[in-house]
Amino acid sequence: MSVLRGNNGPRYRHSQDATAPYETLTIDKLTPIIGAEIAGVDLSAPLANRQMDEIHRALAENAVIFFRDQHLTPEQHLAFGRNFGTLHIHPAAPHAPGHPELMIIRADKDSPRANGEGWHSDVSCDPEPPMGSILYIKQCPPSGGDTLFASMYAAYEALSDRMKAYLDGMMAVHDGEAAYRGTYKNLGIADKPVYPRAEHPVVRTHPVTGRKALYVNRGFTTRLLGVPRDESAAVLRYLCDHAEDPLFQCRFRWTENAVAFWDNRCVQHRAMWDYWPHTRSGFRVTVAGDRPV
Ligand code: SIN
Repeated sequence: MSVLRGNNGPRYRHSQDATAPYETLTIDKLTPIIGAEIAGVDLSAPLANRQMDEIHRALAENAVIFFRDQHLTPEQHLAFGRNFGTLHIHPAAPHAPGHPELMIIRADKDSPRANGEGWHSDVSCDPEPPMGSILYIKQCPPSGGDTLFASMYAAYEALSDRMKAYLDGMMAVHDGEAAYRGTYKNLGIADKPVYPRAEHPVVRTHPVTGRKALYVNRGFTTRLLGVPRDESAAVLRYLCDHAEDPLFQCRFRWTENAVAFWDNRCVQHRAMWDYWPHTRSGFRVTVAGDRPV
C-alpha cells in the first residue's frame, strides 16, 4: 500500500498484493480500494466451513461485501449474523417485534428522516462498537436509495506523515446523545435517560488485518482529547472532510433482496435519501465488536 501526495501521480495509490483465487465464491470488486459483490452463496442455508472462511477473507480484503438475490427469513438473517459473533442491540432504534437484534430500516413518504443519512460508523459511541453490520433491503424505490461506503484504511494512509504523527496516540469522544435523543419520537419510541458515550483512539488498528484505520466520524465524534477546544474543532472538521473524500468510496446500487455486510472497524457509510416519496425498507443485523485499540 502506498500513498503519494503532491503533483506526481495519484493522491492515493492502492497496491494490494495479488491474492490466491477463491474456491467457493466469485468476487467482483467495485473499486480497487473498497467493496466487492460476491456470487455463489446462499445466505439462507448453513454455510460450509470453507465458504465461511472465504466470506471472512472477502470482508477483510474488501471492507464491505454485497450479495444479491438472497431470500432470508428474520431467523436466517439473524443466524447468518451469529456466524460472526454475538449480536448487538441498538441503543435507540426500533426493532422487529420479538427480535431486539433485528433493527428496522425504513423510510417512506411520512418519514421525517431516514436511517444513516450522514457519514458514520455504526454506534461508534458504544464502549465496544459493533464489528460489522448486515443490511438486508427487501423493498427498493424505483431509483435512488444507494448507500455509500468509505475505506478508513485509505483515509488514514492518505494523511500526511506529519498528520499521522500528530494523531498518534490521540483519543476522541464519541457521543450518542446528539445522534439519538428524540430521533425515533415519531415512531413512538421514548428516549432513554442516557445514551452511550465513549473515548476511542483516533487511529485504530484492525484486529484481523493489522492495518491502521482513521476512526472519527461526523455522526458521533464530538471532541479530540488533549488539545484546546478550538483546535479539536478545526482538526476534527478536517479529518471528517478528508474521510469523506470520494477517492476512498464505493457506492452500492441496491436491488430488492440484496445484502450489504460492512466492517465498521474500517468503514464509514452514508445512506442517500433521494427517493421520497417512495419507500425503501429492510432490516439490519449488527455484530458486536471489541474496544478499539
Ligand atoms: C445504516 O445502517 O446506517 C443505514 C444504511 C442504509 O440504509 O443504507
